[in-house]
Amino acid sequence: EFQVQIASTGNLYVVPADRTVIQILEENGIEIPTSCEQGVCGTCITRVLSGTPDHRDMYFTDQEHAKNDQFTPCCSRATSKILVLDL
Ligand code: FES
Repeated sequence: EFQVQIASTGNLYVVPADRTVIQILEENGIEIPTSCEQGVCGTCITRVLSGTPDHRDMYFTDQEHAKNDQFTPCCSRATSKILVLDL
């Protein structure tokens, strides 16, 4: 598991291994638009301010993945303990 932090509020949420970032945020009243929920469409792209995403999408190029400044919260996760999101 890892945690996501919302930059605007400082709130931290735990993302267990069997849940997605999108599910956890939605439960806490933070809606991110989604479509495919499989890392294909790019609808859910969210900026990452710090931490390292574990990219599971097929949308970004390898070069974009390497920058680690955005990710797809419908399916991607984190390799760092905390991911700070620009929300
Ligand atoms: Fe399509 Fe996340 S909803 S990439």
